Amino acid sequence: MTTADIFMDRLAIRRGLPADAAALAAFAARSFADTFGAANDPAHLQAFLDATYGVEQQSRELADVDTATLLATLDGELVAYAQVHRGEAPACVGAADAVELQRFYVDRAAHGSGVAQRLMQAVCTAARGFGARGLWLGVWERNPRAIAFYAKCGYVDVGSKTFDVGGDRQSDRVMLLPLDQPGAR
Ligand SMILES: CC(C)(COP(=O)(O)OP(=O)(O)OC[C@H]1O[C@@H](n2cnc3c(N)ncnc32)[C@H](O)[C@@H]1OP(=O)(O)O)[C@@H](O)C(=O)NCCC(=O)NCCS
Repeated sequence: MTTADIFMDRLAIRRGLPADAAALAAFAARSFADTFGAANDPAHLQAFLDATYGVEQQSRELADVDTATLLATLDGELVAYAQVHRGEAPACVGAADAVELQRFYVDRAAHGSGVAQRLMQAVCTAARGFGARGLWLGVWERNPRAIAFYAKCGYVDVGSKTFDVGGDRQSDRVMLLPLDQPGAR
């Protein structure tokens, strides 16, 4: 068994429960600030964090039948989360019958560890559980590591959309992963 195998042995991925709301809210806010804090105006960032993360907001998301929340824990500690959402897609996604990978965050200490790949497999399973034939996502055009990771997972760039960070309208690339091709995850 390699060191990587032992590490992965300690990783568990499960569906989020209402009782996870407080831990998820704290982790999600910290992950967003860690990722985008340095490149955003502090007032816009704080407005976004206040509107998006909190026990009330994440409780609502965890109870939403159109949202699958996946939590990855290492020895019981939250190290990553993802949310798959069944809803509207931008026109550039086309008639792909796709659900949205709405959020996908791995703790900085676990970047490059393989946690992200494991979580992406669980995301694909959750998307199939919604009956979807594809996954689409929006990723900030200034987030090259995430774009490289999604491309490595098989996502392709299909267009762009805007994303509002506390009043600052930013441009996202829109990427799509077909789930019904031979060799799909
Ligand atoms: C995006 C994320 C989930 C990817 O997970 P990860 O463990 O970092 O991904 P990996 O290391 O397997 O892959 C990242 C790839 O980008 C490459 N990369 C690393 N830094 C890079 C950079 N600055 N610019 C471009 N590519 C970069 C890596 O080399 C790697 O490719 P390789 O395995 O072929 O060498 C993780 O970095 C993360 O949670 N980031 C913060 C949150 C975030 O941005 N979420 C996405 C919101 S849409």
